[in-house]
Amino acid sequence: MSDLFAKFDPLIAERQALLDTGVKDPFALVMEKVLSPTRAICNGRETILLGTYNYMGMTFDDDVIAAGHKALDEFGSGTTGSRVLNGTYVGHKACEEALKDFYAMDHAMVFSTGYQANLGIISTIAGKDDYIVLDIDSHASIYDGCAMGQAQIVPFRHNDVSALEKRLGRIPEGAGKLVVLEGVYSMLGDVAPLKEMVAVSKAAGAMVLVDEAHSMGFIGENGRGVAEAQGVLDDVDFVIGTFSKSVGTVGGFCVSNHPKFEILRLVCRPYVFTASLPPSVVATAATSIRKLMHGSNKRAHLWENSKRLHAGLKALGFRLGTEEPQSAIIAVIMPDLERGAAMWEALLGEGLYVNLARPPATPAGMTLLRCSLCAEHSDAVVGAILGMFENAGKATGVI
Ligand SMILES: Cc1ncc(COP(=O)(O)O)c(C=O)c1O
Repeated sequence: MSDLFAKFDPLIAERQALLDTGVKDPFALVMEKVLSPTRAICNGRETILLGTYNYMGMTFDDDVIAAGHKALDEFGSGTTGSRVLNGTYVGHKACEEALKDFYAMDHAMVFSTGYQANLGIISTIAGKDDYIVLDIDSHASIYDGCAMGQAQIVPFRHNDVSALEKRLGRIPEGAGKLVVLEGVYSMLGDVAPLKEMVAVSKAAGAMVLVDEAHSMGFIGENGRGVAEAQGVLDDVDFVIGTFSKSVGTVGGFCVSNHPKFEILRLVCRPYVFTASLPPSVVATAATSIRKLMHGSNKRAHLWENSKRLHAGLKALGFRLGTEEPQSAIIAVIMPDLERGAAMWEALLGEGLYVNLARPPATPAGMTLLRCSLCAEHSDAVVGAILGMFENAGKATGVI
């Protein structure tokens, strides 16, 4: 019998070699108790959370929690069904209404995760004879959506407008074209030049989908994302997003003004062939989305946090993913995986949790310590975080 696991041997060996150096497994941390959007108990000690994507700190919002409790009491723990059968409750419709209001768009479709939203929308609208032009650093869910729909994939260099234009120019006349972009790229925390990219895509007659997973709720005057901030939201055909970041729960969505959008509910397999979100989850999401419409003070504080952490880390001598802060993600570039893991563990020892990211998830083979700030981090906490980075950086020789 052939061993189908043989292909994992190099990864198993690499992981073992890392653990043999004595570091804790950075991918097996357990949150023993979560105290707030910014604090948890890990390994028995209170830890500051700086790697949760909980940008707007909505997970412990009183109204959000109350809405979840109420829905749990009134509608039970789960729907046990697909959206197209018994799984559409008033709560799912209310959540879609909240999204339509949030984006001021005609249509909204809620999926069970953001991963499934990309998988479903991309695979359904772009099929075998169509072309998808996408940034090479796109999220796995975008690549998986392309693979599922069997469209022709045409990647272009990260955030390179002229590369996008050239690729579009080579697509056969008359073929269906979808350009897939992200507002914020989560590995380095950099923002896409959507204004130019959307213009180039529209000039070539392509439809445009933008994944705003890391920008919804935070970037743009109304938190609608990078497309709003750069003034091109009206030219974007589909916005994809998630509830697992700023919204503070779980789920995914697509919003659009396309007049035929509603047909997707019947033909999109990752929407039809899976159970819908539990009533408590859509209730928390709808409440959170409506509160995010009035989140400008929180957005302003989150920008302050991002700027302060970026400037502080730079002053300490760390190499960062972007020259200037562009989002709520600050990526600290590590010299290699070993020192990255050592630094990650030293930070945890200091009482700080960040994300360790490594290839293949990262671009250019980089090992990164990714920090994602929260609007609930106080000035004092950001100061404490910088002190922890200084201690851990010096202890591990990274600075
Ligand atoms: C750009 C992007 N799109 C989609 C997703 C998937 O979101 P979800 O966690 O809701 O599946 C993520 C999550 O990491 C993401 O970073």
